[in-house]
Amino acid sequence: MPLNLEIADLKKMAKRRVPKMFFEYADSGSWTEGTYRSNEADYQKIKLRQRVLVDMTNRSLESEMIGQKVAMPVALSPTGLTGMQHADGEMLAAQAAEEFGVPFTLSTMSICSIEDVASAVKKPFWFQLYVMKDRNFIADLIDRAKAAKCSALVVTLDLQILGDRHKDARNGLSAPPKFTIKNLWQMMIRPLWCMQMLTTRHHTFGNIVGHVKNVSDLSSLSAWTEDQFDPKLNWEDIEWIKERWGGPLILKGILDVEDAMMATKIGADAIIVSNHGGRQLDGAPSTISVLPEIVDAVGDKIEIHIDSGIRSGQDVLKALALGAKGTFIGRPFLYGLGAQGKKGVTRALEIIAKELDTSMALCGKRKISELNHDVLYDYRPWIGKK
Ligand code: FNR
Repeated sequence: MPLNLEIADLKKMAKRRVPKMFFEYADSGSWTEGTYRSNEADYQKIKLRQRVLVDMTNRSLESEMIGQKVAMPVALSPTGLTGMQHADGEMLAAQAAEEFGVPFTLSTMSICSIEDVASAVKKPFWFQLYVMKDRNFIADLIDRAKAAKCSALVVTLDLQILGDRHKDARNGLSAPPKFTIKNLWQMMIRPLWCMQMLTTRHHTFGNIVGHVKNVSDLSSLSAWTEDQFDPKLNWEDIEWIKERWGGPLILKGILDVEDAMMATKIGADAIIVSNHGGRQLDGAPSTISVLPEIVDAVGDKIEIHIDSGIRSGQDVLKALALGAKGTFIGRPFLYGLGAQGKKGVTRALEIIAKELDTSMALCGKRKISELNHDVLYDYRPWIGKK
């Protein structure tokens, strides 16, 4: 058994175990994938400040995200079709997150439903909402998340139309997969994945099937999005959602200072600085490069989280040093899930926690609350850009 020492090891293993269509659904960005690549690459440009002879005992990664205790400030991102990376993927990832003590966020476009995940865990999880034209369905989804005792609603703002993802188009992505010769071959050479899929009844979009009327083509993600997602979504709708939900609200997909100010005005509890992992507007800047200007503009008024491109505990450290209060990981946990199911998600979290802890210690810090610009070798290129 190969050693899984870093997220890249889990990625390699997932590539061998998950049918190409679903592995590439995770491992891709839109168009040229330029933003997808710069999300990761820009973290490498930030250097850490090594300190010596500082007391390193009694270190802790514990902190809070939106007032909720977390074992480390790293939540699992909402990701669609997670149950196609591994059978019952959302339930397994939620259990791994619960046991580790970090938030799990269930996507609207999940395979296992809100109710399935609620039945698999004991503590509350977070629910991510995509807003569709059918407001009765949205009201119903919000009510279902409330009934499942979800402890935060994450509303995604950056996907009312789908960015062009060429790999998905070439692979003919669908859930469940269509039985073409190409797909059958891809599945046949991954027998473990197939066998596990045969043991579950969760094969299509669990939050949607049986809950929406007149849906013709649900198997195709792009057709469904085009048909159902509301391209007129606006800030007034967010106010309506906020009122209907009545609990902690996180707005996801903010990449611009003006939008961050609007989100603050609405009274959200937190924003996630996100470009959807480079899957929407290719050509947009990396999230870590815009974080400082957003922190500068609204950091004293609203809690700021960040995702997109985090692949190690060092990346988490850099984001926290630049003012984020919390972080999210998408692909790192998906690779773990594809590689080894629940055990792989736990492993992804362990890898990130270990890297964060060791790096913090070598920077002379013992607590998450102590992290600021001080940890960076030279923070000046990263602040005051505008
Ligand atoms: C996503 N993302 C996403 N976001 C969301 O709000 N709802 C969703 O259903 C999905 N689906 C989804 C599927 C897959 C396969 C990926 C990789 C991503 C975006 C996700 O929440 C998050 O913003 C990014 O994954 C963060 O970037 P990294 O950590 O993957 O680089």
